[in-house]
Amino acid sequence: MTIEAVLPAEVMSAETTTDDPIAVLFPEEEACVSGAVDKRRREYATVRQCARRALAALGMPPAPIPSGTGRDPLWPPGIVGSMTHCDGYRAAAVARAGTVHAIGIDAEPNDPLPNDVVRAVLTASERVAVRELADAEPGVSWDRLLFSAKEAVYKAWYPIMHTWLGFEDAEIGVHRSDGSFIAKLTVPGPDAAGSPPATLSGRWLAADGLLVTAVAPGGQPRWVVPDVASAVRELVGEESATFNRSGIKKPAWRNVL
Ligand SMILES: CC(C)(COP(=O)(O)OP(=O)(O)OC[C@H]1O[C@@H](n2cnc3c(N)ncnc32)[C@H](O)[C@@H]1OP(=O)(O)O)[C@@H](O)C(=O)NCCC(=O)NCCS
Repeated sequence: MTIEAVLPAEVMSAETTTDDPIAVLFPEEEACVSGAVDKRRREYATVRQCARRALAALGMPPAPIPSGTGRDPLWPPGIVGSMTHCDGYRAAAVARAGTVHAIGIDAEPNDPLPNDVVRAVLTASERVAVRELADAEPGVSWDRLLFSAKEAVYKAWYPIMHTWLGFEDAEIGVHRSDGSFIAKLTVPGPDAAGSPPATLSGRWLAADGLLVTAVAPGGQPRWVVPDVASAVRELVGEESATFNRSGIKKPAWRNVL
């Protein structure tokens, strides 16, 4: 798995498939997992070790990343980031706040969701889309992928809004062949009184038995070059993509953040 592949160029990332038994926590991080079982403590410490590697790639010294009241990671000033862990995988992604507005990453096993979870997290139209995607490409657990995309959106949303976002509040549309997805939010963002629902573009990848998803609004996608800007417009729709003078796509979510 290479999570870097789904992140914009400004975002630094680090990942691992094994826990480091001697990963060290800062005291304020220790306080967040003081009552936790050993497995939880190890994943908490290992993912923070990934985060500190990613911060080092930005030129930042090691710093504590405790948890907020919504379990959101509290990054050093001027940093935005996100972390994820699932069995056999931990990853972190960070960027300077001036370069992207927010980051959300999520990793899941490439296994189907239980039926009751599918009904709880996917809308009726998403369930139809998942069936069509599965007919065309059965190697990807599309229901799990949409779930992961929603979790990535929530992880980008919460640190800015500090409000709940339900699974029905974002409609995910996945492009099967190019590793992209679109999340249409059905709730308003910070300055969105009377404005249309925000749209976020994200990336996904299936590899090594895992699915990873990422959103990083405001970033410069490493997979878009200026001379294919018109092709991107066609792909994501004019209303969900704007372009700066050099033709680089800027996600429309910057308008509500
Ligand atoms: C918060 C949530 C997304 C995390 O899911 P998870 O299955 O534990 O996923 P992961 O293991 O990949 O990620 C856990 C990490 O996410 C981060 N995280 C947790 N809550 C967060 C929040 N409110 N905001 C941002 N990041 C958060 C943390 O870094 C956490 O790791 P840590 O506790 O070791 O620091 C999930 O528990 C949840 O509450 N989902 C419901 C909300 C939602 O997804 N809505 C969909 C909107 S479209």
